Amino acid sequence: MVLSLVCVLAVASAARGLSDLQECPIFFSAAKRCDPIAPKSFLPADVAAVQGSKGSHSPDLGVLVDVLDAMHVMQTAYFAPWLGTWPDAIDWTAAVMGTHVSGATRSLSEALIHINPDRKSTVDWKLKSNLIERYFTQVTAYYFGQDAFAIRNEAYDDILWVVLGWLETIQLVNVHTDLHFGVNVEQDVAEPQANTVQGIADFFSNQTYHGNTWIPAFSHRARIFWDLAEHGWDTKLCGGGMIWNPRLLPYKNAITNELFIAASISMYLYFPGDENASPFYQDSSTDRPNLDAQGGPRHAKYLKAAVEGYRWLANSNMTDRQGLYTDGFHISGYADAGNNNTKCDQRDNVVLSYNQGVLLTGLRGLWEATGALSYLSDGHRLIQNVIKASGYDLISGTAIDDISTLRPGQLPRWHGLGRAGVMEDPCDASGTCSQDGQTFKGIFFHHLTAFCAPLAAPAPESGTKVDARAFAAASDSHSQACSSYSAWLQHNARAALGTRDRDGKFGQWWTAGLLSASWAGPWPTMADDGVPHETSGTDYRNYGVPNRPPWRAAPSEKGNTKAQHPIEAPAARAHSRARAPMGELKRKRQVGVDGANARDPNARGRGRTVETQGGGLALLRAYWKIAHAP
Ligand SMILES: *[C@@H]1O[C@H](CO)[C@@H](O)[C@H](O)[C@H]1NC(C)=O
Ligand SMILES: *[C@@H]1O[C@H](CO)[C@@H](O)[C@H](O)[C@H]1NC(C)=O
Ligand SMILES: *[C@@H]1O[C@H](CO)[C@@H](O)[C@H](O)[C@H]1NC(C)=O
Repeated sequence: MVLSLVCVLAVASAARGLSDLQECPIFFSAAKRCDPIAPKSFLPADVAAVQGSKGSHSPDLGVLVDVLDAMHVMQTAYFAPWLGTWPDAIDWTAAVMGTHVSGATRSLSEALIHINPDRKSTVDWKLKSNLIERYFTQVTAYYFGQDAFAIRNEAYDDILWVVLGWLETIQLVNVHTDLHFGVNVEQDVAEPQANTVQGIADFFSNQTYHGNTWIPAFSHRARIFWDLAEHGWDTKLCGGGMIWNPRLLPYKNAITNELFIAASISMYLYFPGDENASPFYQDSSTDRPNLDAQGGPRHAKYLKAAVEGYRWLANSNMTDRQGLYTDGFHISGYADAGNNNTKCDQRDNVVLSYNQGVLLTGLRGLWEATGALSYLSDGHRLIQNVIKASGYDLISGTAIDDISTLRPGQLPRWHGLGRAGVMEDPCDASGTCSQDGQTFKGIFFHHLTAFCAPLAAPAPESGTKVDARAFAAASDSHSQACSSYSAWLQHNARAALGTRDRDGKFGQWWTAGLLSASWAGPWPTMADDGVPHETSGTDYRNYGVPNRPPWRAAPSEKGNTKAQHPIEAPAARAHSRARAPMGELKRKRQVGVDGANARDPNARGRGRTVETQGGGLALLRAYWKIAHAP
């Protein structure tokens, strides 16, 4: 009863969101009022013209070996089972590592279907299952290793990574259950023999995947953290948008907004509901928590948050001339006495890879929830802008610059988000990335994988009607566009694989994997890495939050009431300010300055870490799923 009401609300709200888009959706709920027109291609005409069969998807299980190896190194070198976490990670990067491991485990579960479909051949089902269980139990251990209490008091982006992580694990359990324990999967349960007890066979044939035991726990954590994050949505300033950090002057950045869009639409699609009322005591007059207030599958509030979040972001003027998301907006003069400006008008123009990534999960989910093609075309356009800004040309299928002509010591030209066709963040070449910066590229590739999954029509039991012709056309265009990214993924994978050390650990600066072996240093510094550090904005993620406006109130204004606080009740606010939980702003480990002459450019700065390993894993998984998975 509760559920069907929720569905009705969701459909009504989807229609409301769509009327703003003035677009004819491929999914529709009532009488059809329009004919959706699927684009011939999500690629620009000149790219589509050369695509055809080129760059197409070609199944190759060999790539899976590199994924398995990246995963193995990640979980043996960096994960501590006794702590249930990657101890060198900080709260938010650990949440991202958990997301990578859940995503990769899901891809392994999908791949198992194709490795010796006959379960009794070379790789025994028992061994394959053992591998999945190994990673699944580690992710489950991380449920307890995650410092949920600390993250609750951190910034909204920190909080939202947690939501995405557990929804990813829920998807892993769902996919693994459907593929290997579903109603259509034949189980290896022997026919009852004369000497067996019928009850035993029945008992075993009724088992489902044990991972389902944990779904309520994962759902509860996702729900609690989404509820916390929702308070970051603010309409007093900039006409909407999420605040990044309630303890700094107002800053509305791309990442927090993209996370809110992605987390909200993923709650809509994958959150199964939560009957656990904790941390509140249940009202003793009823024996059930208020389930509607706690959300539920396809709850309209999640769809509404995602639709509104994207509408605000898309109209916020946050993209630059290359069509890339810059970091975010300040409000000019906010800390000045007598100022009454509330517009987001002071942009921080630094361009980072993760700001081009998280939105892709949001756009893909919005398409799935509404059938509106504009979300898919916006996503493909963003991906193509990223590829171009790495210095890669999709028409020729090669890097724009020919690096074979460079002499040792000469760096390929910077294109905005990379060089020589390889993605780079602005801190990579100089070896000056913070722990945050080391996590970014992997985030992009995780969300690229999510975006490029083949389109699936809504399940018939959902009652959603589908325009079959338009859906088939959209599905073909989507596959063609994603396949056209394969050669770029291969190029990046080759570079990244070239940065592995003898232990199989990935480095941070992937381009180094392509450079001539005769270049042995000295390596680039921030003065000569070709990145316009001085003019491209404040890279606070890598080099710290400046201790001045527009980032923080000037020291003389301590206790100044203009620091943003639309978030909590006054009592809670006073409490949180007194405790000043600044964990998310803590000083990042100092970068080594003596590394310019290191033999290995990826030994400089923070060197190889769990975050750089997660980046390698996410890239290889993207390459595997988009270019080679059967
Ligand atoms: C199998 O599961 C169904 C549904 O949960 C239940 O009704 C049935 O009693 C179970 N049978 C056995 C033998 O456990
Ligand atoms: C968008 O932002 C850019 C860079 O800050 C600025 O130059 C431009 O005027 C803005 N456009 C609008 C319509 O506000
Ligand atoms: C602020 O608002 C007041 C009253 O609306 C107006 O007179 C004043 O010019 C504004 N100040 C600024 C700096 O815009």
